[in-house]
Amino acid sequence: MRFWDLNQLCFTKVTCTLALAMGILDIKDGKINVLATLGKPPCGSTKDELNCGRPLGLRMHEGSLYVVDAYLGLFKVSVETGKARLLLSQIAGVKPTFLNDLDIDSNGVIYISDSCRKWQRREFMYPCLEGTGSGRLIRFDPHNNSTEVLIDGLHFANGVQLSPDEDFVLVVEGIFARILRYHLKGHKKGQVDTFVENLPGVPDNIRPSSGGGYWLCDAVPHGPGFSLFDFLAPRPLIRRLLTQLFSLDLLVKFPAPSIMVYELNAQGEIVRSFWDLHQGHLGICSEVNEHDGVLYTGSIRSPFIGRFDLTKMKKT
Ligand SMILES: *[C@@H]1O[C@H](CO)[C@@H](O)[C@H](O)[C@H]1NC(C)=O
Ligand SMILES: *[C@@H]1O[C@H](CO)[C@@H](O)[C@H](O)[C@H]1NC(C)=O
Repeated sequence: MRFWDLNQLCFTKVTCTLALAMGILDIKDGKINVLATLGKPPCGSTKDELNCGRPLGLRMHEGSLYVVDAYLGLFKVSVETGKARLLLSQIAGVKPTFLNDLDIDSNGVIYISDSCRKWQRREFMYPCLEGTGSGRLIRFDPHNNSTEVLIDGLHFANGVQLSPDEDFVLVVEGIFARILRYHLKGHKKGQVDTFVENLPGVPDNIRPSSGGGYWLCDAVPHGPGFSLFDFLAPRPLIRRLLTQLFSLDLLVKFPAPSIMVYELNAQGEIVRSFWDLHQGHLGICSEVNEHDGVLYTGSIRSPFIGRFDLTKMKKT
């Protein structure tokens, strides 16, 4: 077992693009630029999100950046000019309030998760605590602008990831700590089954690993130490009460005891894990992205990217 130390996090020499509340940033050679903003100012607080937008899912496809914004929809963004084109703003005539992630197949067809229809992105703790199942996995074909609901009734639909062969698409069902699989090819085409369940912690996004599997990390980790979510899991009345009494801004500050980043193989088995046991240095981990032997982590709470060099790991 290896420990993830704060010293291994850095903010410089990262060439990648990430989304923050303010817009989409481009970090190159240690310089941070705003590449694009999708909505209208003012921006910067959760109150502004409805108009400013809140980009949540990013994917590169054929040289363009595709962005899912929780409220505004799906955009195609030029990484050279930052010019953004809106591709999808409504699903069956309804404006979304909590689109979350996306993946794109080799034909350009886009798979999008809609976390929940009852609450907005900025209220994300409420569907978590309440356990409402109104999330969806949606397929959008930009060639004819058709949308199709592949799975409905999901409990907090989150990360979306196609398999390497594009024979199925995975969607993280956060509240149940499991990943569902929608078959796109073969004799199970159109069917849904469970890819993996009982994951350690509540996963957020899912991204491919160079080993042919998938990276996940804890958005709401379990112990060691006291975990608010473990405590609340068997107590629905207290959960409902909390959503009435406390603001989201307060609930999200509850400290995470530890953070785990882990890799699943192609069959969904955990093959390795890395831990940050330093009481909230990473805060909450929302995404792990592997690039050239380095893991980059994103967080909805921490205003930085984690960088973790896998090539410096010794086999134990
Ligand atoms: C859109 O195109 C896809 C394939 O290109 C097709 O399967 C689908 O039926 C089309 N949808 C509509 C509404 O025409
Ligand atoms: C799809 O929608 C976009 C934006 O609303 C529009 O510009 C485009 O012409 C539409 N494409 C088709 C094939 O209807």
